[in-house]
Amino acid sequence: MIDRTPVTPENLRAAARVLHASRCPVVLTGAGISKESGIPTFRDALDGLWAQYDPQQLATPGAFRRNPKLVWDWYEYRRELLAQAQPNPGHRALVELERLLGCLVVITQNVDGLHQAAGSSDVITLHGDIRRNKCFANCQGDPTLIDVSTLDWDRASGPPRCPHCGAYVRPDVVWFEEILPAAALERAFRVCEDADVALVVGTSGMVQPAASLPFVAKEHGAFVIEVNPLPSAITAIADWSFAGAAGEVLPRLVTALAEWVAHEP
Ligand code: APR
Repeated sequence: MIDRTPVTPENLRAAARVLHASRCPVVLTGAGISKESGIPTFRDALDGLWAQYDPQQLATPGAFRRNPKLVWDWYEYRRELLAQAQPNPGHRALVELERLLGCLVVITQNVDGLHQAAGSSDVITLHGDIRRNKCFANCQGDPTLIDVSTLDWDRASGPPRCPHCGAYVRPDVVWFEEILPAAALERAFRVCEDADVALVVGTSGMVQPAASLPFVAKEHGAFVIEVNPLPSAITAIADWSFAGAAGEVLPRLVTALAEWVAHEP
């Protein structure tokens, strides 16, 4: 049985003290932190039309080549979900944490842009941004971003064509079988090597190379604090693994830190 850390005031105060003493904290987030914004996690069953599809079968270059309309419509559906989504208390707690600590790098696997919308100022997006689109051929360089709002096409037919080369336009996200943006990944590893505290929130820790980052931080001496209602692949290396939702635990953790800062000797 993997030990989880009870979300008690004493434990939150202890975690707040660890964060307060940190010189260089890093936060690593996955889909779980956006769950309370109404966005299904990657491994939640999608509802309606999309329930029959396995995201890992849709989010690949091969799936897009075979059926560009199906993949494009799936992303349009997810963008519609996102259009109604707002940052939740978990996202906002990380903005407050950055204010209290003076510096905080957020490394996210999420493509929803909610950390940026909440106000986090230093966000490394490992898997791209679903709100952006690019030429499938990256004909003008990687990435060749395309603003589809300037294009006129039959939306019922699926994705538009690149105005430069005629290839299909696709979402600017990293698909399975694709490599992550080199600069983002390199900086993420460097930040995790330097970190003395790693706060890991809402990730199953199942997808590489992002899943390696908490282990890199641990190997370089970081204190690892996890927040997840369920155990994950990270739990075994966590010094504390709070069994709770990000939108509940993170605000309480930040409140404990603010109280510590206000009353520190
Ligand atoms: N608060 C915190 N964590 C939560 C919450 C919540 N309210 N609800 C669910 N979780 C946890 C789940 O327990 C799970 O461990 O969030 C995690 C979500 O796991 P995944 O769906 O696997 O998402 P993620 O880890 O981000 O996936 C990584 O895999 O499929 C690719 O590119 C995709 O970015 C994604 C990556």
